[in-house]
Amino acid sequence: MDASHRQIIREIRVKHFFKIEFKNRHRQILSLIKKNSGRLVMAAGCSLMVSVATTATGYLIKPVIDDIFVNRDTTGLVLLPLLVVAVFLIKGLGSYGQEYFMNYVGEDIIRRLRNRLYDRIQDLPLAFFQKERTGTLMSRITNDVNILKSMVSTAVTGSLRDVSSIIGLTAVIFYQNWKMAILAFIVLPVAFLPVFILGQKVRRVSTGCQQAMAELSAFLHETFSGNKIVKAFSMEPHEKQRFFNQTRRLFTLEIKGVKIRALASPIMEFFGGVGIAFVIWYGGSEVIAGETTPGTFMSFLACVLLIYDPVRKLSQVNNTMQQGMAAADRVFDIVETPSDIQDPAAPHPMASGPHTVCLDKVHFSYGDQDVLKGIDLTVDHGRVLALVGMSGGGKSTIANLIPRFYDVTGGRICIDDVDIRDVAVADLRRRISIVTQEPILFNETVRDNIAYGRPGPTEAQIVSAAKAAFAHDFILRFPNGYDTMIGELGGRLSGGEKQRLCIARALIKDAPILILDEATSSLDSEAEAVVQKALENLMQGRTTVVIAHRLSTIAGADRIAVIVDGNIVEEGTHKELLSRKGEYHKLYMTQYAGNLSG
Ligand SMILES: Nc1ncnc2c1ncn2[C@@H]1O[C@H](COP(=O)(O)OP(=O)(O)OP(=O)(O)O)[C@@H](O)[C@H]1O
Ligand SMILES: [Mg+2]
Repeated sequence: MDASHRQIIREIRVKHFFKIEFKNRHRQILSLIKKNSGRLVMAAGCSLMVSVATTATGYLIKPVIDDIFVNRDTTGLVLLPLLVVAVFLIKGLGSYGQEYFMNYVGEDIIRRLRNRLYDRIQDLPLAFFQKERTGTLMSRITNDVNILKSMVSTAVTGSLRDVSSIIGLTAVIFYQNWKMAILAFIVLPVAFLPVFILGQKVRRVSTGCQQAMAELSAFLHETFSGNKIVKAFSMEPHEKQRFFNQTRRLFTLEIKGVKIRALASPIMEFFGGVGIAFVIWYGGSEVIAGETTPGTFMSFLACVLLIYDPVRKLSQVNNTMQQGMAAADRVFDIVETPSDIQDPAAPHPMASGPHTVCLDKVHFSYGDQDVLKGIDLTVDHGRVLALVGMSGGGKSTIANLIPRFYDVTGGRICIDDVDIRDVAVADLRRRISIVTQEPILFNETVRDNIAYGRPGPTEAQIVSAAKAAFAHDFILRFPNGYDTMIGELGGRLSGGEKQRLCIARALIKDAPILILDEATSSLDSEAEAVVQKALENLMQGRTTVVIAHRLSTIAGADRIAVIVDGNIVEEGTHKELLSRKGEYHKLYMTQYAGNLSG
């Protein structure tokens, strides 16, 4: 195992060294930039202004010294200060423009990247959300995207300014004294080398940091949203310790990154210092020998000093790029995640209901282990099929397969003899109303929650759905009635109240296929009886699959299937199954006994 671990690390190293992903991410990033090419050109223009002004500053030193100080030229005394003012004005304007356009482009890229990510993530199948932790995904959209921005804006336009400054200043240096220039430039590449080697390390550390950050936000999400459990089990000290461990890990990684990044500047600075010392020694001796004017020498020296800043920044561009590429990998991995639940090329149109739903030798597994092992079921149009059986038997899984939250791994599911994989996913789901086992509501008004799947319902429709679900009365007791935000209620909603809101939401959708997964499990017997009545009215003329533990809920179903361990062990009507004295009879008896004692 140790050897394979090392092998993986080696592969990652090789991959990073050759930057395999670099190229194809490049295309993705360029496609993001393309939309902003106008502003990017403006930013480039402004950065050129900055670099021209910088070059001019270096050049102007020569006439200042030679004309004013050495030759005592009075016209130069008026002209040169004016020129200096003009140069700095240009530099100021340029750097404002560059900053503005660069950040505009960067922020726009962030916005579009976030939208693209959210757009993509929303369309991914349910399995993806069960695999990834919510907090990790949140960190992709909030944190990683920011790093990409700094790469695109700082690195792309900033490096243009730096490169053109370097070119301009180099030209002046060579113009002033080419022999001295050649000698000075031998030192520079030597200074560059360690910086690029460091860049590789930065990318690796940066990936680690972002991963740690994602884990941190996943951890926060879980322990805040599940805080009730933390408190109930007095696990605050444990969770605090876990959090402290995570921040320590992040801290260690960040410091490691700081050390590497901080090393680049001093290394460059040292070699720069060596270069400057050399210029002073060599140039000084030329001035003393009378081969160069002091102005030429000073201008040369100034340019060497001025070139230092863009070179240093450029060396950090590599770090920023490496960090950005690490973030790009994480962001585009999601954008490129293929969705296995896809629309067919030529979707089959669906007729309006009621429908016949048919499961034909359906096999399913979430991973290695088969959860459904050859399920054959038919729910005729307008009929009610009840699924009962032991916990973990696979009932909710069947409910998940009908709307294609997952695809079957064997067999097929048909609606009116059409495989559900042959119709458009949206078309399929529009025909199915679901009340899931967990009541999930969003932080919108009660009204919006009820109307969730149906655009623009009338007030009367909303109220009648709420009344049918026996939610109307308690909704009116809320501070703002139907306009109360779910978040405002906080944890005030009881399990049964939440369930009734979910039922109202399913009722108003008015779909021909109804799936009720323990829809009334949190209600007391009395409320359940009433809601059950409402549900029975709703089931009229629809094709219904109902899952329940409480046998009173399913006694009225047309057919009952008993699921044990992924298999149907019994099927029939309530009466038939009772008289058979098998699995159903056993369930019924335990229920009955439970009711007696309760
Ligand atoms: N997302 C998932 N990933 C992996 N395994 C899962 C997943 N969801 C369910 N399972 C497993 O599949 C099996 C069937 O689960 P399912 O939720 O269908 O049971 P159920 O019959 O609805 O049980 P209950 O009556 O308790 O709701 C269980 O063993 C469960 O652990
Ligand atoms: Mg279930």
